[in-house]
Amino acid sequence: MCGIVGYVGARDCTQVLLDSLAKLEYRGYDSAGIAVLDNDVITTCKAQGRLANLEERIRQQGGIKGHCGIGHTRWATHGEPSDINSHPHGNAVVSIVHNGIIENYKTLKERLEKKGYTFISQTDTEIVAKLLDYYYNGDPIEAIRKTEARIEGSYALGILFRDFPNTIYSIRKDSPLIVAKGDGEAFIASDVPAILKYTKEYYLLESGEIAILHEGVASFMTLDGDPIEKELLVANWDMEAAEKGGYEHFMLKEIHEQPTAIKTTIAPRIVDGMPDIEECGVTLQMLKNFNNIFVVACGTAMHAGIVGKYVIEKLARVSVTVDVASEFRYRNPILSPDDLVILVSQSGETADTKEALRLSKDRGAKTLAIVNVKGSSIAREADYVLYTHAGPEISVASTKAYMVQIAVFYLIAFELAYAKGQIDEDECRRLTKELSSVPKFIDVILAQKDNCQYVASKLVNAENLLYIGRGLDYALSMEGSLKLKEISYIHSESYAAGELKHGTISLVTDQMPVIAVVTQRDLFDKTISNVKEVKARKAQTFIVTHQYINIDDDVADYKIGIPTIDDMLMPMLAVVPLQLIAYYTSVLRGNDVDKPRNLAKSVTVE
Ligand code: M6R
Repeated sequence: MCGIVGYVGARDCTQVLLDSLAKLEYRGYDSAGIAVLDNDVITTCKAQGRLANLEERIRQQGGIKGHCGIGHTRWATHGEPSDINSHPHGNAVVSIVHNGIIENYKTLKERLEKKGYTFISQTDTEIVAKLLDYYYNGDPIEAIRKTEARIEGSYALGILFRDFPNTIYSIRKDSPLIVAKGDGEAFIASDVPAILKYTKEYYLLESGEIAILHEGVASFMTLDGDPIEKELLVANWDMEAAEKGGYEHFMLKEIHEQPTAIKTTIAPRIVDGMPDIEECGVTLQMLKNFNNIFVVACGTAMHAGIVGKYVIEKLARVSVTVDVASEFRYRNPILSPDDLVILVSQSGETADTKEALRLSKDRGAKTLAIVNVKGSSIAREADYVLYTHAGPEISVASTKAYMVQIAVFYLIAFELAYAKGQIDEDECRRLTKELSSVPKFIDVILAQKDNCQYVASKLVNAENLLYIGRGLDYALSMEGSLKLKEISYIHSESYAAGELKHGTISLVTDQMPVIAVVTQRDLFDKTISNVKEVKARKAQTFIVTHQYINIDDDVADYKIGIPTIDDMLMPMLAVVPLQLIAYYTSVLRGNDVDKPRNLAKSVTVE
């Protein structure tokens, strides 16, 4: 979603803002802009489309000089993507960039119009700029305080006042913002990758705090004006992690990073060969006493939860309910203090997941977050946190984050099954060892990625596609289908293989390729029967299954063979070809793989 950056220091501000905005491109955006304050003048430049358009426009303007400024990448919510709707918004006196949504903007707009203000954009953000202008009488903090008291919703704001050179003001509520500290310079950013080129040290701005970056030094105060001392954090991600490192796209790089991400995530949680997640504060005793487990998340993270459900139920015999966060919030879920709600999120900032967490806490349930971004809202607000250690995931299409989320679910399932006495120590050790062997098998699959390239070449002209599977293979099909549609723009559905006959098979023709995931050997014959059914209706069929299993030509047009481990863990291997098929199909269709249309990396609005 939208990205914010800001800089005060000795460097060429425009260059820093553009560099930093480029690092936030992955969040998804449709326009960009900057405002630079120099010699009592705020110069603004905005452009619809990619950052290159903005750079070109700045160049046409003869460049923008200065050492203090704010920048923004906008993902349209209120008003179409356009130059006018792009941020920064404001006038000669005050200029702002904003992430989030101002919910009462219509009421505020009417009031401001009565006071003689006119509006040129369709955005909620322009209302905040006008409100700041209205309340400003020479004291920026007073204007910010009064504005803050009027606006409702979520916001992270970067603000320039013409009369206060070399100073950026910032405030936030429910939208993340960091303030970074360099050598005689300071930054604001909505996400860590934006500042990694310059510094790794940063502060997390909390809701209701004001940050003042003056002459390269950051200070903080409460809304009442009391100074705040904040803990300085150090990012454990480096620049390299946020660069493509020789790969054509971040997505391909991140697919290749999966073996390392798994090792980094599980190694600290395996003690003497046994799973151990107590580090997060959830003990074996607590784990076995929860009445119900809910998993709540969105998109790919929710798909990881579905794998978690199958594995926990199968091994530990504890029932697990998986909900899409946007549904969970509004279905009035029945929760009690004996229930555990697991929130899964790469970014830790997804609005619906965050609200689901708050609702669960309000209802007394215990909450455990499986989150990748350190210090994110969900990580901070949950009772317990298990961080995944995937490093920054830049591509909008989530791959390595999904992989480590399911790795964490396996650890939870093993530990819970052992705590419940459903598996003995030997079995728990065996499964944990199998889990540790996953990275080396993924390397084998990655070495054979031309198989997936071939399948992609067969799918490139498809308009519709089906993914089918049973059990864990069905759980995985959902993720395969989402991956393909979000980056290739081919319509695809995942279906429980046995359910096809109840309606959907009527869609199957020679124009409907079918990808079947068949790794669960107890369900093998049943799924193969379903593949034969679609084959009989002339569908082109592609099967992902164990390398050693032969599939007759009259069943599959093409087989992708993968190494064999315990069937329970096969999703961790089988997802890799599905990711690669989606990737190569997108490349062949000439799409912007890492920044698919209409999508944002972190969905911070409802
Ligand atoms: O940051 P989160 O894990 O909470 O994000 C949830 C979804 O928006 C995300 O997984 C989305 O579905 C991915 N872009 C899919 O690849």
